[in-house]
Amino acid sequence: MTDVEHVLAVNCELGEGPIWNVQEQKLYWVDILQNTIHTYQPERQIHQAIEFEDHVCAMGFRKKGGMVLATRKHFAMWDDDLQTVEELEFDLKDNRFNDGAVDRQGRFWAGTMNPSSPTGSLYRLNHDLTVEKMVTGVTISNGIGWSPDNTTMYFTDSPLCVIYAYDFDPPTGSISNKRVFIQIGDAGVPDGLTVDSEGYIWSARYGGAKVVRYSPDGKFDREIALPVEKVTSVALGGPDLTDLYITSAWEGYTEVEIQENPMAGDLFRAVVEVPGLPEPYFLG
Ligand code: BGC
Ligand code: CA
Repeated sequence: MTDVEHVLAVNCELGEGPIWNVQEQKLYWVDILQNTIHTYQPERQIHQAIEFEDHVCAMGFRKKGGMVLATRKHFAMWDDDLQTVEELEFDLKDNRFNDGAVDRQGRFWAGTMNPSSPTGSLYRLNHDLTVEKMVTGVTISNGIGWSPDNTTMYFTDSPLCVIYAYDFDPPTGSISNKRVFIQIGDAGVPDGLTVDSEGYIWSARYGGAKVVRYSPDGKFDREIALPVEKVTSVALGGPDLTDLYITSAWEGYTEVEIQENPMAGDLFRAVVEVPGLPEPYFLG
């Protein structure tokens, strides 16, 4: 069994969206519901938390400096201050942004969610800061990633228990040929994901107390058990990109459940053999 290390008792209500910054050797992740960006530098064991006035749901590193963000309803840029780029779905009151990721051509993708109706969409923020709606009819937008050869994009809709695959065209960023890549039948729902350098997919299992690795042809490869149920997302980081960082949540728990799950919301790490790929920068 792979050892899982309890890295940080950070107690996120909804820890999400970890990304590793190679240059800074630092992990970034969000607590969506507590409006916070967290960072952790393992070498020096320094943890920082930056609070915002609104949810920060997804983010990427920006080449020009700072971060590209998806807040509750906006694409935004954040450096010392927050600059709104565009508001989305202002007419859909119960929708908010959820997971997002930067592709290798430097575009930022982020999707919206509404657990009770499939009114979410997946959007692409281009280099010129124009926004395109790429997928509609989504329930909970989650787990986005690309194969190492950049011909396939993965995209998760959690309550449907599906990770979809699309053909991806790198120069234009267009997607086609949607198909079911993984249909989950056991405990929990698929949440955040990352693709490693062999093209295998690590998918966090929210409500399932584990992360699961799938082969590029959609077969179960292995799983790592976690001491928390609500496992939200994964990122490969560390000096060799072989440290699998895992975020978690306590959202929706009663007071009693919170007491019974003292590590829910914390940050975990498991060392794996196959390294990840460096996180691309947003080029807008
Ligand atoms: C969302 C949560 C949701 C979970 C499981 C997360 O990405 O932010 O609100 O409960 O996925 O679907
Ligand atoms: Ca997620």
